[in-house]
Amino acid sequence: MSDEGAATPVLAVRGLVKRFGGVVAIDGVDFAVAAGAFHALIGSNGAGKTTVFNLLTGALRPTAGSIRLRGRDVVGIPPHRLARRGVGRTFQINNLFPQATVRENIRVPTIARHGQQWRLFGRVRGLHDDAIAALAETVGLAAQLETPAQHLAYGDQRRLELAVALAGEPTLLLLDEPTCGMAAADRLPLVRFIRDLVRARGMTAVIIEHDMDVVFSLADRITVMHRGRVLAEGAPADIRADPAVRAAYLGTQFHA
Ligand SMILES: Nc1ncnc2c1ncn2[C@@H]1O[C@H](COP(=O)(O)OP(=O)(O)O)[C@@H](O)[C@H]1O
Ligand SMILES: [Mg+2]
Repeated sequence: MSDEGAATPVLAVRGLVKRFGGVVAIDGVDFAVAAGAFHALIGSNGAGKTTVFNLLTGALRPTAGSIRLRGRDVVGIPPHRLARRGVGRTFQINNLFPQATVRENIRVPTIARHGQQWRLFGRVRGLHDDAIAALAETVGLAAQLETPAQHLAYGDQRRLELAVALAGEPTLLLLDEPTCGMAAADRLPLVRFIRDLVRARGMTAVIIEHDMDVVFSLADRITVMHRGRVLAEGAPADIRADPAVRAAYLGTQFHA
């Protein structure tokens, strides 16, 4: 079997299980993400979405199951090595250095990505400045390079988190509620911006998102989780019409 064939999904999860003591947080999850997809992972609080990301990035080790990245089993590979294989992530909870500037926040992963070249030059300041400025420009923060992260508007902090993830040059980007805490009106534009960026750069993305308007208008494909299991997977129109999904979301924000 070819590892890099066109039909090989970027990500394929089979029989994934994660137990925390007596709690079965992930209870036999299967799903696949096609190359170039903007794939949404949805489900109510506690469904297991963030835990799936922790397993995919190597932050947690599965109790059972396989995780294949472009056909290769990656279970047991630590996060920094998975990052070098192209797995990038943004966090549900703000993961920035609050007192550091936009430039400094982007510099850390840029140096991690490009290694120890600074030893040759004997300086860190000034290194990778062009790449850092280009990334700030990409996410719309070119004018705020010297602003401490904590002084950015909240939406701009989320953009900075995106730049930090992009600095690792991911091919598979995992976005854990990138619109968390944002006003409803700002969510669709931010996620559309991210989706367009993912497409323009030829990346593949999985996004955890609570706003169903955002999910249904922007995702190519949707996996619905419920209590540690996959309840449904399909195109937005199929998920919207799925009786099991509608039942699980009854009384919540899901209405179609
Ligand atoms: N480190 C952990 N230790 C114990 N239980 C955990 C841990 N991480 C997550 N869980 C449990 O796993 C379940 C899924 O949580 P999570 O993946 O954060 O859900 P979601 O992101 O869908 O809201 C919850 O019941 C949560 O309490
Ligand atoms: Mg979560």
